[in-house]
Amino acid sequence: MKKIGVLISGRGSNLQSILDAQKEPRFPGKVVVVISNKQGVQGLERAKKVDIATHVVDNKEYESRTAHEDAIAQLLFQYEVELVVLAGYMRLLSPLFLKKFPDCVINIHPSLLPAFPGMCGQRQALEYGVRISGCTTHFVDEGEDTGPIILQKAVPILQDDDESSLTERILAEEHKIMVESVRLWCEGKLRLEGRHVHILE
Ligand code: GRF
Repeated sequence: MKKIGVLISGRGSNLQSILDAQKEPRFPGKVVVVISNKQGVQGLERAKKVDIATHVVDNKEYESRTAHEDAIAQLLFQYEVELVVLAGYMRLLSPLFLKKFPDCVINIHPSLLPAFPGMCGQRQALEYGVRISGCTTHFVDEGEDTGPIILQKAVPILQDDDESSLTERILAEEHKIMVESVRLWCEGKLRLEGRHVHILE
């Protein structure tokens, strides 16, 4: 059973998808700590509800990015976290932090990367006028949403979609690939070779 630490900044619906999945006794991972950089967000309540340890490490209370990330890393070590999941964590992690968790940090993004990285992937897709968007899970590297891709799911853009309807349909797929990516990682089925992720049977 792999120990998972989840970093959030908000609603935590992707966190919830992992919490739901781990109710299944054969799920190979367990969330041991949820860390938010914001006070009072819904994701913290979701974790508390199922008795998972939560911490707020507010970036505004630290004088540097390094000090903030050090505090987070310390907590992750304290809980002996093996996999770090960014589930709507709205800050970039520095190379210094990532070196402490090599090939152990994964992120979810609401577009088919490498298209529309950064903020508001759904709005970017609508503004660009693509017919298909979707979501991506990937290992985190030093870039913004540039790391090796684990799973993707395409979501068609409908004629009368607006940002909220598209976001909702993409989110439903996010939850599936999030759980599946975590499961594959925990089962040791992801092999990284350069920027390619091989999925072992
Ligand atoms: C998701 O759309 C995720 O892809 C993006 O931020 C959003 C977080 O949603 N990185 P939630 O907090 O998991 O509900």
